[in-house]
Amino acid sequence: MSANAWPLDIVIMAAGKGTRMKSRTPKVLQKLAGRPLLGHVLATAGQLQARSAVVITGHGAAEVEAATAGSASVSGRFDLKFVRQEPQLGTGHAVQQALPVLADDGVVVVLSGDVPLTQAATLQALVAAAGGDRLALLTVRLPDPTGYGRIVRDTTGGVQRIVEHKDASAAERAIDEVYSGIMAVPARLLRPWLEGLTCDNAQGEYYLTDVVGMAVAQGVPVAAHCIADAVQVAGVNSPQQLAELERAHQLRQAQALMEQGVRLADPARFDLRDHASGTPAQLRCGQDVEIDLGCIFTGQVEIGAGARIGAYCHISNAMIAADAVIHPFTHIDGEAAGASVGTGALIGPFARLRPGAQLGAEVHIGNFVEVKNSTLAAGAKANHLAYLGDATVGERVNYGAGSITANYDGANKHRTVIEADVHIGSNCVLVAPVTIGAGGTVGGGSTITKSTPAQSLAVARGKQVVKENWHRPAKLPKA
Ligand code: UD1
Ligand code: CA
Repeated sequence: MSANAWPLDIVIMAAGKGTRMKSRTPKVLQKLAGRPLLGHVLATAGQLQARSAVVITGHGAAEVEAATAGSASVSGRFDLKFVRQEPQLGTGHAVQQALPVLADDGVVVVLSGDVPLTQAATLQALVAAAGGDRLALLTVRLPDPTGYGRIVRDTTGGVQRIVEHKDASAAERAIDEVYSGIMAVPARLLRPWLEGLTCDNAQGEYYLTDVVGMAVAQGVPVAAHCIADAVQVAGVNSPQQLAELERAHQLRQAQALMEQGVRLADPARFDLRDHASGTPAQLRCGQDVEIDLGCIFTGQVEIGAGARIGAYCHISNAMIAADAVIHPFTHIDGEAAGASVGTGALIGPFARLRPGAQLGAEVHIGNFVEVKNSTLAAGAKANHLAYLGDATVGERVNYGAGSITANYDGANKHRTVIEADVHIGSNCVLVAPVTIGAGGTVGGGSTITKSTPAQSLAVARGKQVVKENWHRPAKLPKA
């Protein structure tokens, strides 16, 4: 993206209460695709190569500031400032609070912290419309404009002013072009207008929208940049609206993937979100990737060419190599350490891969098998009901049903090493630290506490006792 003709300073209004969310969490911290609404707005500001962003906080200010200052989507991209607005006397009053930290040489873009899906390209067009000497408004035509500020035009089509719904006449309420809440304007023009605002209106608030009439009165050109895509300017006021925007956003992500050739069984049942730890959502797919319905991807996920993801898998911070097959209901979360699945591996159904699971080519992990912080070399198999934690597993190892590594002694974690071509029988307990030598076999039901040499058989269980012609105890006669 080329450098901006004017330095951009973004003002984000985020002081409102969000009563209709009925939540203890401030509205701008409600999540869409795993990221706070305000985080989406700040990420867009980052794409614009803004010089600074000023967030106006009020309700839940401390919480909003704390959650935002450290977020991954923001860090280092621009100068981030917070300004408090207390009490909240309207949108004009909100932007007034930012004046002390706004430089006069920039173009100010006013955004709302609860409008998450505006695209950077749309704002760039708006900034271009403002240029160095105009006021530019982002507008949209709505089938039901109730509640919004209306764009009032003169007989030649020029924008005259914005009238708020509550202040509008019946004729004005019939106007379907509404103000989105987003404008771009040179700071040196905005400053005196904001200083001149009054609250003489139906709501007794300082309306930011009154600057439009002031511009017209001074002969400053006002441009209305009308877009057709209402999703980009839709705000979140209720859980219903949040869910609607979530679906709209997910559908767009799904469509973008399908355009790259990814085959989604159902784009309406696909989700890609930020990871709970804050890793931004990013799904990269090779050619001929197939994703069945109901899958959720979070954080950074890479899927190699020809890999197939079964229905209802949850995959986070993970690398799936080419031609791997992840069967339904598999849960993979690499968290900070990451998790990787090798070429042609078969995972699941109902498998769980945790941080540090590194599976080589052609590894098989079957149902109800959990793998954590363990490396499995090519061709290793653990097909049923097993746990591998803090283990190094060699090539072609076969790990039996019900076997576990006892990696935790109650205080410390220890490693289990299972060398190449070992066969671990069913229902074994490998008490770490322990090494099973290459090519060795561990008999089913063994509890192994000492390392075993290569090519050995280790059996550590009670010897089978057989008593022939044995009779079960009979019931005693009743007293
Ligand atoms: C505003 C516009 C209206 C437009 C609509 C689009 C004004 C006067 N009206 O309506 O023309 O159609 O947005 O959604 O600007 N906020 C503060 N401090 C305040 C008041 C609001 O930070 O004192 C924040 C809110 O948290 C929100 C944003 O500003 O993020 C917009 O406020 P909201 O009350 O939703 O906008 P309206 O005044 O209804
Ligand atoms: Ca309001």
